[in-house]
Amino acid sequence: MASNDAPAKAAIGGKAYPVVDHTFDVVVVGAGGAGLRATVGCSQAGLRTACVTKVFPTRSHTVAAQGGVAASLANMGPDNWKWHMYDTVKGSDWLGDQDAIEYLCRNAPAAVYELEHWGVPFSRTVDGKIYQRPFGGMTTDFGKGPPAQRTCAAADRTGHAMLHTLYGQALKNSTEFFIEYFAIDLIMDAEGRCRGVVCLKMDDGTIHRFRAQLVILATGGYGRAYFSATSAHTCTGDGGGMVLRAGLPLQDLEFVQFHPTGIYGAGCLITEGARGEGGYLTNSAGERFMERYAPSVKDLAPRDMVSRAMTMEIREGRGVGKNKDHIFLHLDHLDPKILHERLPGISESAKIFAGVDVTREPIPVLPTVHYNMGGIQTNYHGEVLVKKGDNPDVVVPGLMAIGEAACVSVHGANRLGSNSLIDLVVFGRAAGQRAAEIVKAGAKQDNLPDDSADLALSRLDHYRYANGGTATAELRLKMQKVMQNNCAVYRTGEVLEEGVKLIHDVWAGRDDLRVSDRSLIWNSDLIETLEFDNLIVQAAVTMVGAENRKESRGAHAREDFPNRDDVNWMKHTLATIDDAAKAVNIDYRPVHSYTMSDEVAYIEPKARVY
Ligand code: FUM
Repeated sequence: MASNDAPAKAAIGGKAYPVVDHTFDVVVVGAGGAGLRATVGCSQAGLRTACVTKVFPTRSHTVAAQGGVAASLANMGPDNWKWHMYDTVKGSDWLGDQDAIEYLCRNAPAAVYELEHWGVPFSRTVDGKIYQRPFGGMTTDFGKGPPAQRTCAAADRTGHAMLHTLYGQALKNSTEFFIEYFAIDLIMDAEGRCRGVVCLKMDDGTIHRFRAQLVILATGGYGRAYFSATSAHTCTGDGGGMVLRAGLPLQDLEFVQFHPTGIYGAGCLITEGARGEGGYLTNSAGERFMERYAPSVKDLAPRDMVSRAMTMEIREGRGVGKNKDHIFLHLDHLDPKILHERLPGISESAKIFAGVDVTREPIPVLPTVHYNMGGIQTNYHGEVLVKKGDNPDVVVPGLMAIGEAACVSVHGANRLGSNSLIDLVVFGRAAGQRAAEIVKAGAKQDNLPDDSADLALSRLDHYRYANGGTATAELRLKMQKVMQNNCAVYRTGEVLEEGVKLIHDVWAGRDDLRVSDRSLIWNSDLIETLEFDNLIVQAAVTMVGAENRKESRGAHAREDFPNRDDVNWMKHTLATIDDAAKAVNIDYRPVHSYTMSDEVAYIEPKARVY
């Protein structure tokens, strides 16, 4: 542990909390793919960098990413970053910012080669190149050609391979890790600059105040606001919660991605790479129904479309199983050697969680919450933005966000599969580069005000001694059921209006929470309560944003407003909260209708058909 300032004590509610002070150039919160990539960049730039994480780095949720990382390497056929850009804009249903999408796709190959050189054990072609598989919505020749083989894979354990390699690189570059530290709140000064972050060291209950020139939030998504999610239980949107409490906006939370192939009942992910390798979906009539919904790309349509098609089949009585409530994914026609070589992980998951031998039987699957397109508003350097007057893109000094926690926005209304892992490394890398420009190694930092930990500690103390009538697990389950029932693949005004009321009831229920363990050492009851506090505000923003957006776009499918409405709704939602009043305030900012360079032209909106 690195402590370079004198220990202090803060008194909150009459109780003394020992505070350990640290000073760094940069503090990265989160050690998934984005956090580690940024950490490596900052350390390599000579900045004294701390990485603070609530789980051991290689247990971060990136470890669960399966199918691959998108980059137009052209190892398996013709490809080009401009085609990748076109697909990503179309996949986003024209809500993505095209300058940022250009940045992503243009820089993707370099980011992947860097991973290769650092040691990621990618699968290989016969001539030794990185193996690439097809993924949904990835095409050639600006959508006119056949599917692109663009997704670079390490079998079906790509995230695992990347995370371990990145952790090794961070250690090599002398990053200082603070492992199993839970970030409670940001330290913001009166001028709106972020000055650091306050954390709880979970194994001994000490409070750690990190002062830094720059805080980079890489805290992941908030999938656990839902009942059934492929996200780890740690995906509680801690960065988003901190940002909302700091009075800053979150962008586009109404866009929640359902992955078509979560294992029925268990929710675990079966990679889209399974369909990339030739798998297909059938209904109770044994029909390959995707041929009706997306005649040209079929099972390789983008996720929002496949999830809607599956939901429609089930609704119309063509689901499989005793209750006709799920769909079959077939891999049983594929060569067992291919399954063993390219899809070993999901073959094992199907056995364990569905009791299925994939070489003989189909896997029962159901659309399952997988990814948050929305998040903390940033530019493509990773800098957090806030709207001031008419300017929606004012940089918040001292604060960056990257990865699923952020909304750059490259995914817009719907993310293409394998664009998440590339987002992590491209923008993790960009954040490191920006940090090298704006942070001066070892520069003297002003003293923090004496009360700078008080906000975080009041919150901690409040929940530590919460003495109401409702257990956190009970209220969390209520929230998860409301989100699952009222903010699903298909949405209607009526169901969303009910959802807004119900989620506000849950939010109000927070005042009656009971935490039964008063200690500070490995108090999982307290940590889960702080996590719930982060989740509920984002659940509320999601529901209110979904009710508010009167159109269908990407993953936001309104049955009462079935069409995309570019005249009124081609704009990003910016939401802030009044946590005391339990209110969500909605504002907007325009979608960037320009590219980053003159090398590509703005891609004009058109109907999104495949
Ligand atoms: O299906 C998958 O392997 C997931 C990939 C992703 O979400 O990008």
